Amino acid sequence: MARALHVGVLGAGAWAGSAHIPGWQRDPRCRVVVVCDVKGELAREHARRFGIPEWTDDWSSVVSRADVDVIDVVTPSRTHFELAWAALEGGKHVLCEKPVAFDFRDTLRAAELAKRKGLKTKLGFTFRYSPGVRYAKSLIDEGFVGQPFIFNGYEQNSQWLDPRTPLRQVDPDADPSVLHVSSLEGYGAPIIDIGHWWVGAGFARVVGTMRNFIPERVVRATGRMMRMNIDDGDVFIGDYTNGALGSIQTSYVTIGNYPGIEARLFGSTGAIVCRLVEEFGVAETIKVATPDRVEFTEREIPPRFYPPGGHPRESWRSLFYANLIRDFVDEIVDGGARNEGNFEDGARVQEVINAVERSFRERRWIALPLER
Ligand SMILES: NC(=O)c1ccc[n+]([C@@H]2O[C@H](COP(=O)([O-])OP(=O)(O)OC[C@H]3O[C@@H](n4cnc5c(N)ncnc54)[C@H](O)[C@@H]3O)[C@@H](O)[C@H]2O)c1
Repeated sequence: MARALHVGVLGAGAWAGSAHIPGWQRDPRCRVVVVCDVKGELAREHARRFGIPEWTDDWSSVVSRADVDVIDVVTPSRTHFELAWAALEGGKHVLCEKPVAFDFRDTLRAAELAKRKGLKTKLGFTFRYSPGVRYAKSLIDEGFVGQPFIFNGYEQNSQWLDPRTPLRQVDPDADPSVLHVSSLEGYGAPIIDIGHWWVGAGFARVVGTMRNFIPERVVRATGRMMRMNIDDGDVFIGDYTNGALGSIQTSYVTIGNYPGIEARLFGSTGAIVCRLVEEFGVAETIKVATPDRVEFTEREIPPRFYPPGGHPRESWRSLFYANLIRDFVDEIVDGGARNEGNFEDGARVQEVINAVERSFRERRWIALPLER
């Protein structure tokens, strides 16, 4: 490679500062050359804090820069599609926070655009890149689990149990009499993705339900309490196409710590339980059992699953993202076909979310794939 990959970061908010920018800066093969936020003062502040040479409040000037190779989209969800699409059209590889789009068909279109242009894409599926989840996947690939029977996935914590904790309004124009998808999308995406990846198949059909437990909340933009009819807890089950069964539960009003992922896979020869829940300074544990040793025992995660300098007591926010970004840089620099956790995987996940929403609204099982 002639020079380091040049990265432009769109969005200078909390997640860019705690996960994305530190991840890029940890990899010597790339350099963040510009940070952008529509609120220019935030871009300037991140540029100062992280020693980024340039900042701007105009995202279109970043996606059209000839010297930028990769665009990182860390803005609010409703803006992802427009920015990611423009970046792909500008010939850039794209890392985008989930979801790329609310309708899986739009995400598929973006995946197809990337493919046509020979560009790599990656979703912010943070937990796929945790050392424990990656170690589990390597055990599954080695045959530890055998034939997968049942996957149980959770993403849950109590981030918004207290209604005074400000939450971004999902859609200011939403009809308050209709329950709006929220946790299923924000919290469901990463665990649905891990299920697909571990089980090795997508869903053939799903049935699910959602609930609004906390009726009024403080809206981030105004600081006032208002009715927010959003799903803050949901559960669905489904049949995977390879015959395995799955159940997924997500909520941000269920008591427990961050990040709150638990993935369990039970198969014909082994079972794996991986918990990404920060408890007493450690954010992940992996336990396994076999037919002749049914008491689950903890496994130490081998060092090769950690990013350089990473360790079990590092903050999960920077640790997991360092792995994600290292993997994306590997994929871009190596130039081969490998591109995991890409927009196509994102579209498959979003299709499940769209199907579970429809199942809830129509109170019935929904078959996949949905009509294109
Ligand atoms: N994968 C994960 O585990 C994880 C965790 C936290 C957040 N996120 C996601 O990351 C994204 C950002 O979250 P956050 O908590 O940092 O939000 P935030 O509100 O703190 O930051 C977003 C920033 O984007 C800016 N912005 C809006 N439109 C823009 C545009 N067109 N161009 C440039 N900047 C623009 C806003 O002014 C804001 O400063 C969201 O999609 C969120 O869901 C993912």
